[in-house]
Amino acid sequence: MPSMELIAFFSFLAVAVAQHVKVEPAVFGYVGNQVVLRCQFVDPDSNIEVTQVTWVKDPSGAKQNLAVHNPQYGTNYPVDTNQRIHFRNASLTDASLVIDRLLMTDDGIYSCEFATYPEGNQEAATNLTVLAEPRISGNPMPVNSGKSPVPVASCIAADGKPPASIIWRGTVPGNTTMELTQNADGTTTVTSQYQAVPSSELDGMTLECVVTHRTLERPDVINIALTIRYPPIVTIEGYDDNWYLDREHASLTCNVKANPAVTSYRWYMNGGDLPSEVRAMGHQLTVDQVTYQVNGTFSCEASNILGKTKDSINIFVREHKAAVTSNAGAIAGGVIGGILALLLLACLAGFLLQRRRRGGEAAGSYDPKTRVFGDGNGAARADFTYRPDSDSEKGPSLEPTTPTTTVNAAAEMENLLQSPAPMDNYYQDEEEEEDEKVPISSDPTTEDDMESQRDGSIISKKAVYV
Ligand SMILES: *[C@@H]1O[C@H](CO)[C@@H](O)[C@H](O)[C@H]1NC(C)=O
Ligand SMILES: *[C@@H]1O[C@H](CO)[C@@H](O)[C@H](O)[C@H]1NC(C)=O
Repeated sequence: MPSMELIAFFSFLAVAVAQHVKVEPAVFGYVGNQVVLRCQFVDPDSNIEVTQVTWVKDPSGAKQNLAVHNPQYGTNYPVDTNQRIHFRNASLTDASLVIDRLLMTDDGIYSCEFATYPEGNQEAATNLTVLAEPRISGNPMPVNSGKSPVPVASCIAADGKPPASIIWRGTVPGNTTMELTQNADGTTTVTSQYQAVPSSELDGMTLECVVTHRTLERPDVINIALTIRYPPIVTIEGYDDNWYLDREHASLTCNVKANPAVTSYRWYMNGGDLPSEVRAMGHQLTVDQVTYQVNGTFSCEASNILGKTKDSINIFVREHKAAVTSNAGAIAGGVIGGILALLLLACLAGFLLQRRRRGGEAAGSYDPKTRVFGDGNGAARADFTYRPDSDSEKGPSLEPTTPTTTVNAAAEMENLLQSPAPMDNYYQDEEEEEDEKVPISSDPTTEDDMESQRDGSIISKKAVYV
């Protein structure tokens, strides 16, 4: 319950049909809390005499007299309500009624009636709505994996008044169902289910059930982790394609996802028992020393209560260790690639710094300074062509450049102004890079990138030569 003190929403205070009796037409209260039904007799001219005050519940139906106040005879509560109902401060002008520990059954229409002279009875009615905070719960509905949609989670907002609203959030593809059940006491139980195709991937994914209700300050969010049971999904890992004769220690791993957990693993070779030199321990298979005995197909079979699944792998036993060069080459390649990537990053940073210093001047602008260097570029290109150690394969690509390239070259020259790199080196690198870049340089953004890369190469060469 939000609070034990009086909670009521007073939408507005209206003068009721009978002009002297003032009540609030609609009052809201919470189950278990107190509510006050206000009622006043307004008689500015004081020419009406009130003799008795009465509260009647359900005036157009059961007409139950709840409370009577008469200055002569006192106050009486004809219906036994366990002392939950009493006048706040009984008088002939204030008939406000207090109801404690609200019940759902208190919901209804209450008429505040004044017996007067000479005008006769005057009354006004208040509609009391008792609100009930729903009991909220959310749970996964464990299911076996399958191909057709089934409910995978449910969320319930029970015994709420008015009915709660339930929505779902999450990335699980599916749809929702909603069911409302009216309870005898006037509350409603709202049940929503989330339906999805129960694939193994959904296992462990979470959905949020969001319940909104008038009695809640903010929506109630329940996280529900889905439970999908599925037979094992098996893959054999660890084969490096380099099992050679006499190799010491080679192993395979049976990698399994399953819910519930795997209860047993079985390893086979060529569909039968394992040779003696192979040890299987759970998901791990180990060969202490490789012989031709293990040349063949290994299988791992994992089981849980939902079934067993097998994966197989062909092991080829080599006479000799696989060529070292390919391995070494790959490693060397990796190392060189790594270094290049680092250099590229450094250069990119350098380029960005330079660009910032240039104050965002558009790349490739033709100012006189860059033109001069554009010419210089041509000279340097010739110089490069005649270098004795130049790569002959690159010869054909050292063709005259497109205008775009000239623009870039000009921009580079500007960089050069700020760069201590020796001219010769600079142009060599630039030409080499340019060969590949020319075809994609039509778009201005690409130009920028190219520049940055060429910039980069300047620095990288420096690093190598120094
Ligand atoms: C109760 O009513 C009496 C008489 O009308 C009035 O004097 C008194 O102030 C009221 N008390 C409260 C708490 O309203
Ligand atoms: C190993 O198995 C392959 C087939 O996977 C076969 O071609 C090869 O002859 C076998 N080698 C030996 C030494 O048995």
